[in-house]
Amino acid sequence: MRIEPARALVGHAVVPGDKSISHRAVLLGAIADGETEIVGFGRAGDTDSTLRAVRALGVQVDELDVDLVRVHGRGLRGLVPPPEPVDCGNAGTLMRLLAGILAGQNGRFELAGDASLSRRPMERVATPLRELGARVETTEGHAPLLVEGAPLRGTRYELPVASAQVKSAVLLAGLLACGRTTVVEPAATRDHTELLLEAAGVRVERKAQAITVAGVDSLRLDRVEVPGDFSSAAPLIVAATLLPGSELYLHNIGVNPTRTGLLDVLERMRARVTLFNKRRLGSEPVADVEVRSSSTLVATKVSAAEVPRMVDELPLVALLAGMARGETVIEGVAELRVKETDRVETVKDLLRPLGIRISAGEDELRVVGLPTRPKGGGTARSEGDHRIAILGAVAGLVSRGGLRLEGAEAAAISFPGFFELLDSVSKR
Ligand code: S3P
Repeated sequence: MRIEPARALVGHAVVPGDKSISHRAVLLGAIADGETEIVGFGRAGDTDSTLRAVRALGVQVDELDVDLVRVHGRGLRGLVPPPEPVDCGNAGTLMRLLAGILAGQNGRFELAGDASLSRRPMERVATPLRELGARVETTEGHAPLLVEGAPLRGTRYELPVASAQVKSAVLLAGLLACGRTTVVEPAATRDHTELLLEAAGVRVERKAQAITVAGVDSLRLDRVEVPGDFSSAAPLIVAATLLPGSELYLHNIGVNPTRTGLLDVLERMRARVTLFNKRRLGSEPVADVEVRSSSTLVATKVSAAEVPRMVDELPLVALLAGMARGETVIEGVAELRVKETDRVETVKDLLRPLGIRISAGEDELRVVGLPTRPKGGGTARSEGDHRIAILGAVAGLVSRGGLRLEGAEAAAISFPGFFELLDSVSKR
C-alpha cells in the first residue's frame, strides 16, 4: 500500500471499542451466569479469535451487529474441552487469560496460536498457574500450551515482569480457587480485569501494588459498555500532533489512567491535547479528545516505571521523539522485544530509513530528534505486526515523500478500517 504525506488531520472520528476490554468481556461472559450483552464490542482480528475460541469451548455467541454481541454464559466451570486445539490466532491476551480460566475447568485443553504467538513467552503464565495447582505444559516455553484443569488453591504471586495479561490470568484462576489469591505487580498495569470483575460482583481488594480475589460461586455481568480503544486513538493523536494545522476530535475514548501514559509524554513534549466531557462508561473513565498540532515538540525521558502505561504506544513515542528537538531516552523497553514482533528492532528498522536517528540497547531506546518532517521514500514493512503497520502509516503520513507500506493488512488485527478512517480525516 502507498502512504501519501498529508497536510493536516482535520475533523471528527471515533475508533473501535477497546480490544483489552472486549477480550475480557467475552471471556468473563463465557463463564458468567446468564447472558452478557457487550455494547461497543471492538471487532478486530484479535477479538474475532476470542469469539471463535469461546465458541469452540461450547459457548453460544450471538453477533447482533458489528459492535454488539451477546454471550450466553455457561457458568463458572461450564467450558467444554473441544476435540481440536483452541486456535488463539495472533492474540496473546486471549491465550494468556484463557489459560487462567481453563486452569480451573474440568478436562484437558490445548491452546495454539499463529507463528508470531507461538514465538512469545508462555512460561510466565504457566509458572503461576502451576503454583495454584493446575497442570500446564508449554512447548519449550511457548505455545502450543496444554492446560489440564484441577482443584486450585489460592496463592500469593509476585510478578517478575509488569504484565496485565499474566496478572489477569492469575486473578481469573483465583476466582476458581479455594482461598485467596494475591498478585503483586512491580509496576501498575492496566486494571480492566479488576474493574470488570467488580462489575461482575467480585470483591477485589487493591492495596498498593497487590491485588487480591477470593474464590467465587458465580459471576454475573449482564451488560458491558466498551469505550473507544485509547491504543487505536493513539496513532491519530500522534499524527495530528505532528501535522501542522491539524484540529482533530476523537469521541468516546477510554482514558483509564493505566493506559494513558502517552498523554503524559505528550504533555512533557509540549503537545496540545485536551480531554473534555470526562465521564464514566460502566466502570471505565472515558472522554472526548481534542488534538491540535504542535510545531515545538521537545525531547523527554520515559522511565521504566511509566512503560506499562504506554506499552503499546511506544512505537509511536519513538516517532514523536524523532520530530522533537533534542534526545529522547526511553528506558525499560525489554518487554517490547516479546510482543508480536521484537518491537525494539522493528521500530528501529522502520524509522531509520526515514532519516530518524534512533539507536537501541537491550533495554533502552534513544532518539535524537529534529523538528522537521522525516524524508520518507522507500518501503516500510510491518513484519505482520499490527502496531508496526500502524506506525508505518503514521510515519508515511507525516513524512515529506510518503512511503510504500508492505504488510499493511496486519493493522486489522487491532483496527479494521484504520486506513479508511485515516484517509477520511487527512487533508492532502
Ligand atoms: C494487554 C496487556 C499488554 C499489552 C497487550 C494487551 C492486555 O501486554 O501489550 O496489547 O489486554 O492485558 P502484557 O501483559 O504482555 O504487557
